[in-house]
Amino acid sequence: MFLWLFFATLASALNYSNAIESGTIIPLYIYPKTNNGGNAWQALFDAYRAHPINTWAIVNVNSGPGTRRKDANYINAIRDLHAAGIKTLGYVLTNYTQRSEAAVKADVDRWKQLYQPTGIFFDEMAYDDVNSKVQYYQNLNNYAKSQGYTFTVGNPGTRTVPRYFNTVDNIVVFESDTGFPSTDLICSQDTNGKGRSSVSILPYNIGSLNTGAVTEAKTCAGFIYVTNDSGINPWDTLPGYLTQLFGVLKG
Ligand SMILES: *[C@@H]1O[C@H](CO)[C@@H](O)[C@H](O)[C@H]1NC(C)=O
Ligand SMILES: *[C@@H]1O[C@H](CO)[C@@H](O)[C@H](O)[C@H]1NC(C)=O
Repeated sequence: MFLWLFFATLASALNYSNAIESGTIIPLYIYPKTNNGGNAWQALFDAYRAHPINTWAIVNVNSGPGTRRKDANYINAIRDLHAAGIKTLGYVLTNYTQRSEAAVKADVDRWKQLYQPTGIFFDEMAYDDVNSKVQYYQNLNNYAKSQGYTFTVGNPGTRTVPRYFNTVDNIVVFESDTGFPSTDLICSQDTNGKGRSSVSILPYNIGSLNTGAVTEAKTCAGFIYVTNDSGINPWDTLPGYLTQLFGVLKG
């Protein structure tokens, strides 16, 4: 009896550590309506419904919030994501700090005026060890938070200098078509003590899902997205294995 309890407890502790869960941050650079008026994001709703994990969709009207008036299709589609439980990040380009802080802040404002995403995605994030560049992202993060955005993600697309982890909530440390990254590569990123919730990866051009590799990657990446899409815009379709991916990410 006593021994049995001991082993039962041990087994559930081991199960618990295997059952680590990761979320996903998805570049959803897809117009929300198909040509014949259907829902172009349906596969995302289906995957989330099957396996509700911490899901963030990066919405991108036109390399940012767009300069034209509100697009009703985007308004409705973002509202539907939020109603389902999927959160959104407004896409903003920083051009490795070459864009002025004022221009980036104007995009952050415009996202709020037009579409009210949950958070902000800073694309083309610098990753060199330069004080002024670290300060630039710190300022932008502080501004976004002051405007009510709850989550910020920066995308250098590669390993970065640890102190950038003090600027935004999460950093994409791998965005590449060179195969699914090794667990060693992901785990060797120094996060300045922020841990796995601050790390995400975006491998693309992955023809079939290696569920074992994804399961291993979960130990150091709190957010994982994988797609078979490739080319100039590898984010303009969703992969056929999306629901399977959500299942592997679920704890
Ligand atoms: C990024 O900055 C470089 C250098 O200033 C400039 O040549 C390029 O046009 C910029 N790209 C975008 C997309 O703004
Ligand atoms: C991705 O896989 C789906 C089938 O799951 C296929 O229809 C699609 O053409 C593939 N996309 C690319 C870009 O290879």
